[in-house]
Amino acid sequence: MADRERTFVMVKPDGVQRGLIGEIVSRFEDRGLKLVAGKFTRLDDDHAREHYAEHVDKPFFDDLTDFITSGPVFAMVWEGQDAVAQVRRMMGETDPAESAPGTIRGDYGLDLGRNVVHGSDTEEGSAQREIELFFDDDEQVDYERIDEPWLYE
Ligand code: RTP
Ligand code: MG
Repeated sequence: MADRERTFVMVKPDGVQRGLIGEIVSRFEDRGLKLVAGKFTRLDDDHAREHYAEHVDKPFFDDLTDFITSGPVFAMVWEGQDAVAQVRRMMGETDPAESAPGTIRGDYGLDLGRNVVHGSDTEEGSAQREIELFFDDDEQVDYERIDEPWLYE
């Protein structure tokens, strides 16, 4: 069995307003990833700017932080084998128009600035940084899913 890892995922304000929380959670559950934290919340501007700090110099930064603070989000931590990369694959490309059908963005989005879901990128340390920005250690729950022996060799 390869190493289990944790990744940060967030249903963005468009996904919440469009009633897609359940669908998105189901996809990760069905895949065998384990939910270890969840929080329904609304980001303030400081939190949004810190979360997206890597993009601070990009021309779209203000639009991005305005959008992500525009309504509630559903923030989560998912755990599993190769979780960071597998979640990115399930999300599709950044631009929904370039995302394959079957991916979240390919099934539910059309526009770059309304791409429904966020997931940590595969750069070393990204997931841990984002998790810590949203969740304390005691908000992440360690437990076994009953089907783990059937998910992992
Ligand atoms: P995210 O961080 O939200 O999961 O998206 P991502 O990794 O796929 O894409 P990233 O490069 O981190 O960009 C963050 C968000 O900024 C918006 N964006 N706009 N106008 C533009 O050229 C542009 N590029 C990116 C997207 O909404 C993207 O999700
Ligand atoms: Mg990103």
